[in-house]
Amino acid sequence: MTKATEAKGEAARTEAKKANGKLRIAAMGDLHVKEHGETFRDLFSEISQVADILVLTGDLTHLGKPREAEILAADLRSCSIPMVGVLGNHDYECGHVEEVTSILKDAGVQLLEGQAVEIDGVGFAGVKGFAGGFGRHMLGSFGEPAIKAMVAESVEETMRLENALRQVRSERAMVVLHYAPIVETVQGEPMEIYPFLGSSRLAETIDRFPVKAVVHGHAHRGTYSGKTPGGAPVYNVASHIEKPTGRPYALLEL
Ligand SMILES: [Fe+2]
Ligand SMILES: [Fe+2]
Repeated sequence: MTKATEAKGEAARTEAKKANGKLRIAAMGDLHVKEHGETFRDLFSEISQVADILVLTGDLTHLGKPREAEILAADLRSCSIPMVGVLGNHDYECGHVEEVTSILKDAGVQLLEGQAVEIDGVGFAGVKGFAGGFGRHMLGSFGEPAIKAMVAESVEETMRLENALRQVRSERAMVVLHYAPIVETVQGEPMEIYPFLGSSRLAETIDRFPVKAVVHGHAHRGTYSGKTPGGAPVYNVASHIEKPTGRPYALLEL
């Protein structure tokens, strides 16, 4: 894309935003970028035409290899809108999460790990989240140290989310997660793995703040939309999920 077309696109987007005062958010997760895998270049240019911001909900790489992050970073050059995101469990797999993080940050992605960022009047609070299960069947801190460590990690991520939400000054807040905060949007996955797909602790925190929308990924075979017990809309935007756009990304207006 030339600088002139880019500027034109930017002007048109600003006009569209002025028209209805809303930010058009494209959200997508679970790209699982591999060496010699599919390219996302065309998809990112398409998204730049239809949205004002791209939100990425983790599992951006398949095995967390720096080479995979570099491939994604190269594809992201065709994205001309601001990018915000969180990492997923796959981005940790190889033990190079710091390198993966710095490659994606250098590519322009504002990676959130318990922070918030405000873009055009919308506050994005992001954290990866963790497993632990839902509702009455949530894993409790009891028994072996390994179980307690797992629950502690889940609580820790929830506290990071709370800190992020406290930083939001805007009236319009979106929560960006990798793991699911409610059971509704993991439905479609085998029931036996629900406890590994997310935790209700995240929803408990979300419901203490005026959150307009929540996006997450991780449950590739889950369900597109649901609500927290407090009524915040939740969208599973894993690229595999069928969405109203008919595309791998969801389009939300906030
Ligand atoms: Fe995934
Ligand atoms: Fe995942």
